[in-house]
Formats: sequence, C-alpha cells, structure tokens
Amino acid sequence: MTRLAVDGGSPVRTQPLPTVLVPAGRTFGAEERAAVLEVLDSGVLNASCGGPWLAELEATMAGLHGIAHAVASSSGTAALHLAVAAVDPEPGDEVITTPLTDWGTIAAILAQNAVPVFADVDPLTGNLDPASVEACLSPRTRAILVVHLFGAAAPVAELRTLADRAGVPLIEDCAQAYLARPAPAAPPVGTYGAVGCFSLQQYKHVTAGDGGLCITADPAHAERMRLFADKAWPRDEGRFHRFLALNYRMTNLTAAVAAVQLRRLPEVVARRRRLAARLLAAVGDLPGVDLPDQPELHAWWVLPLIVDGGNERWATALSAEGIPAVAGWLESPVYLYPALTERRTYGQSAFPLTSPPARRDWTYGPGLCPRAERLVGDTLVVLPWNENYTDADVDDIATALTKVAGALTP
Ligand SMILES: Cc1ncc(COP(=O)(O)O)c(C=O)c1O
Repeated sequence: MTRLAVDGGSPVRTQPLPTVLVPAGRTFGAEERAAVLEVLDSGVLNASCGGPWLAELEATMAGLHGIAHAVASSSGTAALHLAVAAVDPEPGDEVITTPLTDWGTIAAILAQNAVPVFADVDPLTGNLDPASVEACLSPRTRAILVVHLFGAAAPVAELRTLADRAGVPLIEDCAQAYLARPAPAAPPVGTYGAVGCFSLQQYKHVTAGDGGLCITADPAHAERMRLFADKAWPRDEGRFHRFLALNYRMTNLTAAVAAVQLRRLPEVVARRRRLAARLLAAVGDLPGVDLPDQPELHAWWVLPLIVDGGNERWATALSAEGIPAVAGWLESPVYLYPALTERRTYGQSAFPLTSPPARRDWTYGPGLCPRAERLVGDTLVVLPWNENYTDADVDDIATALTKVAGALTP
C-alpha cells in the first residue's frame, strides 16, 4: 500500500488549490469593476438615495427563482432576521431548526425573542430529519427554519407538509445552496417556504463581501421585510417608524457587485456540478465513504464526505496529501456554543429562554441531537469546492481520496 503523506509518504499534490480567498478561486470580471466605478462616479452610495443596482439585483434574484419578490439586506444573518421578523413571533414562541448551521440562523431567531428548538438531522446529509422536526412541534411552535446544508436540498416537501399541518410558516436558509433542487425539474430551494434567505458573504457561491437576499411570493411578507431592513420607515408616507426594526440596508456598492455576480450564478453552479460529476465518476463508489450522489441537484458549496468514523484522522491525512479538509465542519453543534449553554442573550436575563415568556425554561447541553453530535465529532469531513478547479485538480482530489480511503478504511 502507498504510504500516506501524514506517515512520511509523498503527498498527492504540492500546489495549492484555488480557494474563495484568492482571485483564482473567485469568479469576478471587468463587469464587477465597471459596476463599482459607476456607483462611485454617481456620488450616491446609499441605495435609499437612488441608483439602479438594488432594483436590478432584486429583479435578477426574483427572476432566477421565478418568484414575485426579492428583498436585499446587509448580510445573510440580516436576511434571516428579516424572515423571522416577517413571521413576527411573540416572545417565547418556538422556531424549530437545525443544530448544524452558521450561528446567524440562530441569532435571527433569538434576536426576535423566539426560542430555537433543535431537531436532529439525517446521518448522511446533515439535513433536518422530518420525523425529529415533527417530534419538536408544540402549541408554541411559530415557524420551522430549515437549512439546506452544504448545497444539498433538505427534504422541503415533507417539511412543508409538516409546517402546513401545524399551521406555521416554513423559512428556508439557502445560504449554502443557491439553485439546489430537491428533485429533477423541481423548483430551486427558497421557493418552498414562506421566505427563502441567501447570503453574499465571502465564502458563498457568489459574493459582494457581505450581503443578504430574501425571496418570497407573499407581498405582505415582502413589504414587512423591506420595512424591517429600513428601521420600519415607510419613506413614501413620512418620517415615522411603524415598529421596532434596525438598519439592515444594502449599499449601492454592494448591490452593484452582487447584481453582476448574480448574473454569473447559473454558470458558477453549473461548473461546480460538472466538476463534482467528474469526481463522483472517479470515487463515487469508494468503500467506507459516502458522497452526495446527485451532482445535478446539489449546489456543491463544499464537498461533504461521510466516513465510518475517525473524521479527524481523515481530515489530517487528506490535508497532508495537499487536499485541505476539515473534520466536522463545526467545532460542535450550535446549541453547545456558550451563547446558548450559558444563555447569554440580553444581559443576565436569559430572555426569552425562561418561563415566562417561554412555556418552559430552555437549557441546552450535550446529548440533545445525537446524530448531529456524531457527524461533527466522528463521521463528517468537509472539503472546499470551487468552480475554478481544473479537471486535473479534481483528479488530484480523487487520487487523494482513494489513497486515504485505502489506508483508513478497514
Ligand atoms: C447556513 C448559513 N446560514 C447563515 C449564514 C450567515 O450568513 P452571513 O455570514 O452572510 O451573515 C451562513 C454563512 O455565513 C450560512 O452558511
């Protein structure tokens, strides 16, 4: 057997792969540069004061999803906060969500004084398990907030049925899953719930550094989200504020870059899919490794591997071969972050996790979602993915996976 690089053998690769943090791993062109200069030359950087880019961005986003409304904001976290605010929970109401996500998903729930209730996930995809969501439903459930993890569509049809039966909205966090689909010819994610939320942060498929987008078919939700992003200021009517809300506005500089980036999105996702199909053709059947199996549906934000165990050893071995890999993606499920275990919300109050306003006192600790904990601690390995990989880059990744699997799979 070939000796692993981590054990002193030769690495598969010594050249770094392109990443989203270097120009070679980003898909920017002359159009973004021209758009930024156009905004600067106009002298108007705040989108509330004029300029075409915000409207173009929102129209492009709505068009890509075949939906009536898109609302821009300053980040993916802001977009999620807009969505939760559109639902307008009472303090202590519950939002069922996933323990495998960015903290922004949870902050949006807590910031609107709702309680995050964590359902467990599928052991192969890390996406919410509908049966576990169903077990979390209570008379205080106010929404289900699903995350499409790593680029794979979560089981949205089942979750939508559950939400409808409970009489609550489904919110979709699509930050990692632009244009992912749950089935061939099905509409893209973001269109199954009341609101779909997206991020334009640096690590996403397309970026403006930071930025957020919400999509919805519901004009009332669109109106409330627009107001919520602008301190609830109905500018056409006068200078007053309808309800408590913050400033989550996107600037013209961001909107200009984002609008051009969004034009490139279908091509970015298509290239990621083609490269993923190449990888799967080479290593799709590797013993001891489970990979997403439908490259044309997945958005390939990253390449998740599910191994039989020992994810740290896998990540170390792959990284030593020149293929950067991370064990578990997160350090822990989000409910084990101090913000929740120590209930650091508003001062020392632990609000809204206390009863009242909640129906019970909510505490968070190990053991809450065993399948999520096993993924993070034992079976999940995440590799970056990029539309600018060459076929040779993908072949190196396949070679490294085959080599490491040969050594680590019993
Ligand atoms: C699933 C998910 N939700 C929410 C966010 C938050 O987005 P942002 O960083 O733009 O606030 C991110 C990414 O950062 C994410 O991956």
